[in-house]
Amino acid sequence: MILAIDGPAGSGKSTIASRVAENFGFFNLNSGEFYRAFALSHISKGRRLDCDDEIRMSLNDVHLSIIDENVAIDGKVVSKAALHTKEVDNASSVLSVITDVRLRINELLRQSVEGKNVVCEGRDITSVVFPNAELKIFLDASPIERAKRRATERGDDVNAVYTELQDRDNRDRNKEFGALKKVEDAIAIDTTHLTINEVYNKICTMLTECLDKSKNTSK
Ligand code: DC
Repeated sequence: MILAIDGPAGSGKSTIASRVAENFGFFNLNSGEFYRAFALSHISKGRRLDCDDEIRMSLNDVHLSIIDENVAIDGKVVSKAALHTKEVDNASSVLSVITDVRLRINELLRQSVEGKNVVCEGRDITSVVFPNAELKIFLDASPIERAKRRATERGDDVNAVYTELQDRDNRDRNKEFGALKKVEDAIAIDTTHLTINEVYNKICTMLTECLDKSKNTSK
């Protein structure tokens, strides 16, 4: 069973996905962390974000994997703190636009879930990575609410975060391949005026119904 969740930065996807996965004993796959790990490895080697040859080099010489639900670079788990710096926010957003990067990461995502019950979240999970997921959710919230959440999480200035989120949204929504969008069979949840618990409860109810339905049809 796959629960696929997409949404823009700051919509609450990661928090919700990890809580739902824990509650149901599902594997939690955070696709953004693959983009972040790729970007971290690329910039750590002093490579540029605007050079196709250097990006190709990074695709050829990095090995990304999952160890106990954490992303690993060349066999070593990377800390969340290292994946969530401002530099990596920007580099992962810029590199995620490149189709070859996306194709490689999609392959890794599909390999990591084989035979598992999974909650996977990102930008193109419902549309490209797992288009046959049994349950698809599109989480959204107003841009200012998302900026406030991010700023509170990181202790940053709301206006600066708002501007940075707008850049990331633009890249996410206008990619040639794997752009962020709500697919027809995804259930949209606007979280602007909802608490994390309210969103969590809604999704748990949907997943329980989905699991019951699949049990009944397999009888
Ligand atoms: O979800 P996040 O903010 O941690 O993701 C980091 C970057 O990776 C973000 O700028 C968008 C990109 N991303 C993507 O393009 N496709 C995904 N499925 C997940 C993330």
